[in-house]
Amino acid sequence: MALIDLKGISFAYPNGNLVLEGLSLSLEEGDKIGLLGENGTGKTTLLHIILGLIRPAEGEITIFGERYETEQDFKKIRGTIGMLFQDSDDQLFCTTVLEDVAFGPLNMGMNRREATYTAEQTLDKLGISHLKNRVPYQLSGGEKRLVSMATVLSMKPEILLLDEPTNGLDKKTGKLLVSVLQKYPARAWIMISQIQSTIEAMSNKYCKMNGGRVDLV
Ligand SMILES: Nc1ncnc2c1ncn2[C@@H]1O[C@H](COP(=O)(O)OP(=O)(O)OP(=O)(O)O)[C@@H](O)[C@H]1O
Ligand SMILES: [Mg+2]
Repeated sequence: MALIDLKGISFAYPNGNLVLEGLSLSLEEGDKIGLLGENGTGKTTLLHIILGLIRPAEGEITIFGERYETEQDFKKIRGTIGMLFQDSDDQLFCTTVLEDVAFGPLNMGMNRREATYTAEQTLDKLGISHLKNRVPYQLSGGEKRLVSMATVLSMKPEILLLDEPTNGLDKKTGKLLVSVLQKYPARAWIMISQIQSTIEAMSNKYCKMNGGRVDLV
C-alpha cells in the first residue's frame, strides 16, 4: 500500500490558472523523491494539495489507505506529515525561537516541560541552540531556514514534505542540514530542490513536474 496516493488531481488558483492537470503520484515506504521542475510549474502547489491546505477541483487523495477530502480529514495528519514551507516566514509566528519549536509538540499533547526538552534537543541537533531566545523574524534567512526545519522535526513526523530545504544556506550549513535529514528516521519524503548536491544526497527517486503532471525520470 502506498503511504500517499494521488490520482487525477487537477487544481486551478482562483485567477483561473490551471496549475495541476490530471496529476498522479504514489509515495511508497522508503521513497525519497526528489521533485524537479522549472519555476512556476506547480511543485509547491502539489505539496500544499497533499497537506490539504488547498483542495483539488478533481481527483483523489489517499493517505495510509484512507480517502482525504475535508478539513477534518487533513487535520488528522498534520502531525504525521511534516511540511517545510518554501518561505520560512510562513512557518514562524511565535515571539521566540524556542516557543516556535515547542509549539508543535505542545499542540500534539506534550506538557510544557516535555515540549521544551524536545525543542531544545531539536535545536541542538541542528546546531542552533544559541538562537533559542531570539525573535524569529529578526533572524537571517539561513537562520530562519534552520529554525523552520526545527519546528518540523520537533513534531517527529513520519513523512516529510520539504520545499527547498537547503535554499539560502551556505555550503557547510547545507551539508549539516542534509546530514541531519539523512539520519532522520522518515518513512518517506518528497523534496523539492534546485540544488544539485542536495538532490543527489537526498533522493532515491526523481520526478519532474511537467505540464501539470509529474513524470518519473
Ligand atoms: N496563491 C496563488 N494565486 C494565484 N496563482 C498562484 C498562487 N500561488 C501560486 N500561483 C501560481 O501557480 C503556479 C505554480 O506555482 P508554484 O508556487 O506551485 O510553483 P513552483 O513550481 O513551486 O515554483 P518555484 O520553483 O518558483 O518555487 C505559478 O504560475 C504561480 O504564479
Ligand atoms: Mg515552489
